[in-house]
Amino acid sequence: MRQLDGKIAVVIGGSRGFGQGIVRALAAEGAVVWALARNAGRLAQLKQAVAGVQTLLADVTEAQTAPQTLRATRPDILVLNAGATPSMAPVHQQSWEQFARTWQTDVYMTFAFGKEALLLPLAPGSVVVIVSSGAAIGGSPLSGGYAGAKRTQWFLAQYLQHDQRTSVPGAFRSAAHARARRPRRRRFAHAAGLSQRNRVRHQQSGAGIVGWGFSGYSIRCRHI
Ligand SMILES: NC(=O)c1ccc[n+]([C@@H]2O[C@H](COP(=O)([O-])OP(=O)(O)OC[C@H]3O[C@@H](n4cnc5c(N)ncnc54)[C@H](OP(=O)(O)O)[C@@H]3O)[C@@H](O)[C@H]2O)c1
Repeated sequence: MRQLDGKIAVVIGGSRGFGQGIVRALAAEGAVVWALARNAGRLAQLKQAVAGVQTLLADVTEAQTAPQTLRATRPDILVLNAGATPSMAPVHQQSWEQFARTWQTDVYMTFAFGKEALLLPLAPGSVVVIVSSGAAIGGSPLSGGYAGAKRTQWFLAQYLQHDQRTSVPGAFRSAAHARARRPRRRRFAHAAGLSQRNRVRHQQSGAGIVGWGFSGYSIRCRHI
C-alpha cells in the first residue's frame, strides 16, 4: 500500500515546473491528483504521461475558480503553487500592471482558495501547502512586486491558521490528537518530495513553502 492511497490532491499550477514535479510525486504515492492550469495542451500531455492524474482547465484569477474547484474535488491535500512570471526590470521601468502581476495571481490565489477552504470547510486532517519564495525574506529588487507578494502569502497562511483556530467549528482538536497526527504529516511531506534532501534543494532554489492543516495542530509557517 502506498502512503497516499485513497487521498485526493489538487495542485494549482500543476502543469509544469515545480507544480508538475509535485503532481508526479503525489501520484506516485497513490493519490488521485487534480492538476489545474490554463494551458489545455500541457494539461493533456500531463494526463497522458502520469497515471492517476485528472486535469482542470481554469484561471486562478477568476472569482469562480476557487469555490468551483474545491466544491467539486474536496481535496485532502491542496497545493497552492501557481505563480505569475514576474516582470524583470527596475521599478522606474515598470508599469503598475507589471509591478502588480504576482499580486493578481499568487496573492489572489492564496486569498481565494484559503478563504474557500475555511468556508467549506475542508475536512479535518486536510493539508494546504502554499508555495512562496526565498525572495519573501531577502527581497528581489529587479522583479517588481514579487517579493512583497510572496511575503504576503506567509501572512495569509498565518491569518488563515488563526481564523481556522478561532472560527471554524470542529476544526480544533486536542494537543494529544495533534501529536498522534504528526507521523501522517511527515508521510505527506515525504510523499510530496519534501524529504530532507529535497528541502535543501528547495532552499537552494529559493522556494519557500508554508502550510496549514485542518486537524487542529498548528503547522508552523516555515521556510524550507
Ligand atoms: N522557479 C523558481 O526559481 C522559483 C523560486 C522561488 C519560488 N518559486 C515559486 O514556485 C512556484 C512555481 O514556480 P515555477 O517556476 O515552477 O513556475 P512555472 O514553471 O511558471 O509554472 C507555473 C504554473 O502555474 C500555472 N499558472 C500560472 N498562472 C496561472 C493562472 N492565472 N491560473 C492557473 N494557473 C496558472 C502555470 O500553468 P499555465 O500557464 O498553463 O496556467 C504553471 O502550471 C511559483 O509560485 C513561484 O513563485 C519559483
